[in-house]
Amino acid sequence: MPEKIGQGTQTLEMETSYAHLSHERLEGKIAVVTGGAKGIGEATVRLFVQHGAKVVIADVDDAVGHALANSLTPSVTFMHCDVRSEEDIRNLVNSAVSTYGRLDIFFNNAGLLGNQTQHKSIVNFDVDEFDRLISVNVRGVALGMKHAARVMIPQGNGCIISTASVSGIMGGLGPNSYTATKHAIVGLTKNVSCELGRYGIKVNCISPFRIAKSMLVNSCKGGRGDEEGIGAMSSETGPSAEEAAEMEGSMERMANLKRPTLRAKDIAEAALYLASDESKYVSGHNLVVDGGITSSKDFVGF
Ligand SMILES: NC(=O)c1ccc[n+]([C@@H]2O[C@H](COP(=O)([O-])OP(=O)(O)OC[C@H]3O[C@@H](n4cnc5c(N)ncnc54)[C@H](O)[C@@H]3O)[C@@H](O)[C@H]2O)c1
Repeated sequence: MPEKIGQGTQTLEMETSYAHLSHERLEGKIAVVTGGAKGIGEATVRLFVQHGAKVVIADVDDAVGHALANSLTPSVTFMHCDVRSEEDIRNLVNSAVSTYGRLDIFFNNAGLLGNQTQHKSIVNFDVDEFDRLISVNVRGVALGMKHAARVMIPQGNGCIISTASVSGIMGGLGPNSYTATKHAIVGLTKNVSCELGRYGIKVNCISPFRIAKSMLVNSCKGGRGDEEGIGAMSSETGPSAEEAAEMEGSMERMANLKRPTLRAKDIAEAALYLASDESKYVSGHNLVVDGGITSSKDFVGF
């Protein structure tokens, strides 16, 4: 029975039962996580499994992806998938559906940062770098949405989540190519949510601030963040403790919210909320996880 709180015409009804906030918030759900072998994707795979989901990791890093899946068997499987390839995405979705009978959650998380130190000026705009980032960050996400929708529409429900970035909200936080791709993800999310809402499919994205993980630290050191091409960087080439600490220090100086340090797990928690039934009325939303950085600037010196 709902409990009534408040007075007069402002009475609110509150559910007294919190059974829906069970410990296992994704019990029985089937999820695909692209870029699930490392970083934000890996943290999400682990959290989704803790909450009762069956997860397919889709990644180009076969060695790391297989190792993670083996460590979480039987809840997790790995499938090689290059999100730039429509055939790979089609096979991924078909395989998830033929194995589990349905697909509840598709997390478009694979993405490239590119080189965060070079090509900053539009005068030095590098077309090859732009095409490389577009192919993974935008084409890959659009293909993920397309093939997830293909199976979710007949199901009459589903949830599509994509990883955008604070660089998809405002300028000045990254190079032009990366910024353009992340704005495109926010736009795709809004547009696709318009269409898929009528089928009961939620479409949302998450915009993280910086996490001092392998790809980001490497990109800021002047590498591409994915040295030698997509997927070639193993977790062993991640940042040293000093490099990660230095980056975390610079992020704390920029963020309004000073105490916590942003971790991949925090983005996984945002994905868990969007994937679970607690967000049943949330669609077309960009869930910003940035310590307040894109909402305000302290001009007056609080
Ligand atoms: N790390 C950050 O600070 C940060 C901030 C904002 C947004 N993001 C976004 O978060 C997402 C994940 O980033 P991360 O920091 O966890 O990176 P990461 O490098 O730790 O993980 C990315 C994963 O994607 C995989 N991948 C790369 N290209 C692929 C492709 N073509 N097909 C399939 N898999 C591919 C990689 O092998 C890797 O496992 C990206 O979209 C990134 O732009 C990251």
